[in-house]
Order: sequence, then C-alpha cells, then structure tokens
Amino acid sequence: MSSDVIISENISGKALEELQSSCGVTLDPGLWKAPDKLKKAVANCRALIVRNQTRVTAELISAATRLEIIGRAGAGLDNVDVAAATAAGVVVASTPDQNSISVAELAIGMMLSLARKLPEADAHVRGGGWDRQRFVGTELYGKSLGIVGLGRIGVLTASRARAMGMNILAHDTCISPDSVAVTETHAELVELEDLLKNSDFVSCHLPLTPQTARLFNYQRFAAMKPTAFFLNLARGEVVDEKDLIRALEDKRIAGAALDVRQTEPPASDALCTMNNVILTPHIAAFTREAQDRVVTAICRDVQNVLSGRNAKNFVNFPRPRRRES
Ligand code: MLT
Repeated sequence: MSSDVIISENISGKALEELQSSCGVTLDPGLWKAPDKLKKAVANCRALIVRNQTRVTAELISAATRLEIIGRAGAGLDNVDVAAATAAGVVVASTPDQNSISVAELAIGMMLSLARKLPEADAHVRGGGWDRQRFVGTELYGKSLGIVGLGRIGVLTASRARAMGMNILAHDTCISPDSVAVTETHAELVELEDLLKNSDFVSCHLPLTPQTARLFNYQRFAAMKPTAFFLNLARGEVVDEKDLIRALEDKRIAGAALDVRQTEPPASDALCTMNNVILTPHIAAFTREAQDRVVTAICRDVQNVLSGRNAKNFVNFPRPRRRES
C-alpha cells in the first residue's frame, strides 16, 4: 500500500504523530541514501518531507506524479530543485524562522569558544594540565563582528552580539541601507572587502547559490586580520576548505569554527589536527525547541496542502497546482 506522505530523513515529535494519525505516512530515515528506492517510494505520494540530505532533483520530482508538496524541515533550500517543483506544479515549503534563534545562539557560542579557546582548555584540563597563561583569550566586548548575509540568522546573531558590546559590520547584496535588518541591528553595511579587513570575527550566514559557492577562498581569508576568526554555520560549500586550511597554516587568520562542511560527513583532514579550529556536525539548528518548531511547522504545512489549503511557509508559486488525475 502506498503512503500519502514519504519522509526520507529523521524527524520526530507530536506534530508528526498527529500527521500520522490523519494520513498514511512512511518514515524511512535512511531513504535519502538510496536514490533509486526513493524514486520508487515517491511514485504515488502526495507529500515528501526532507531535511538537508535528500537530493530533491528534477528527476525525482518528475517521478512523483501525484506530488503536491515538498516540505523542507529546515531553512536551506540548496538540496531542493525549487524551479523544477514550480514547473511541475508542486508547492515547496520550508521552515525559515523556526530554527534561526538556535543558529544565532550557536554563532555566539562559537565566538566565545574561539575567543577563550574553550575546547583546547577543556582538553588541557582533562589531560591533567593547569597552565592558565596558555589560555589568555580575548573579550568580545568592543570587537567588530562582520556578518556576511544579514538575513534572519544574521540579524539575530547581530542583535545578540550587540548586547555583548560588539560593533556590527554587515555585507549583503540583497538589502539596502534603510532596511529593517540594518536599522534594527545598527549594522554598518559595507563591501565584503571592507568587512573582511576590519572585522575581528567574520560570521557567514549566506545561502548556498552559484554566486556564493566557494566565496571564502584564500584571497578572502588573506584579506582578514591575522588575529581574526572565521565562522561558518551556513553551508560548507560557501568555503573552499583547502584554501581555509592553507590560510590557517599560513597564519593569515587566527582560527575558525565550522558547523558545516563541503562534504558531510567530512573525511578526516588537517582541520581535525588544528587546535584553533572548532568542528561540530551541522548541529546549529539542533535544539529541542528549534526541532519542535520545525517539525510542527512542516507537518502543519503538509496537512494544509493535503487538505486543499495554502502552505504558510511556501517559497514558490506553482501554477497550476498538480492534482491527482
Ligand atoms: C537549515 O538549513 O535549516 C539547517 O542547516 C539545518 C538543516 O539543514 O537541517
């Protein structure tokens, strides 16, 4: 028997249970790893729910002839061919607001961890050490935070950083100096080169697009202060990792925190051996609160569309919406 809803990555929670009680749901968290199996599984479904690992390609969408909605449980849409969905009359909905606070909080945590060398100090004490001089850090107060991408997460990170006494520089080609994002954060909107040159922390909050892929290359790292730290909690492909490693080896920057990688999970590389680098497994959005909001929002939107209502967090205008013949 086919299901109305296919879920190809792990989600859980009360909202999912409610969805399961109202329609047929197949939850197969490993399905994203088997594209052929996934293609067969979606042939008769009306809704597909994914996180960031399922590649929702034009080919997959065309195989799902009854599909009405693709629900992305998360913000980034780089794994979903939105144009193909639109052309096929399929709604794409995401959860752009639901995990932003968690990501912004981790960005602040990463800055503090880099500035105070927390992972290294923790490992030092566990290894029997007590060398306080080795762990003289820096304050965030009075430092400049350069935010590349002043969207929801960039704004939330900026407002938290301002509360800690940081100055905000921002670069975003999509917003104007009189936008709410700028006025609310009191950010100085600058060119990327100026941001890199003048920031003590550079935090990337960009979506992955052809324009942003490998934006952070050796030349851009070399433009930063040698005392500055780089943070990426957005998408790994925005960074050229080989160039980042070279910039760290050449001491062109002081350190980095990466929650996302070019390939996930990444192979072991030089970054794993550097004690001025903090690595986490794409967990910025992984808090109980954020995941609860994400799952609630995406299940609600799937339910909306399957009941003939509009999705609240739609990102495209599919016309005409494809219906079962
Ligand atoms: C997002 O895009 O929402 C986050 O990176 C988390 C995720 O991809 O699931």
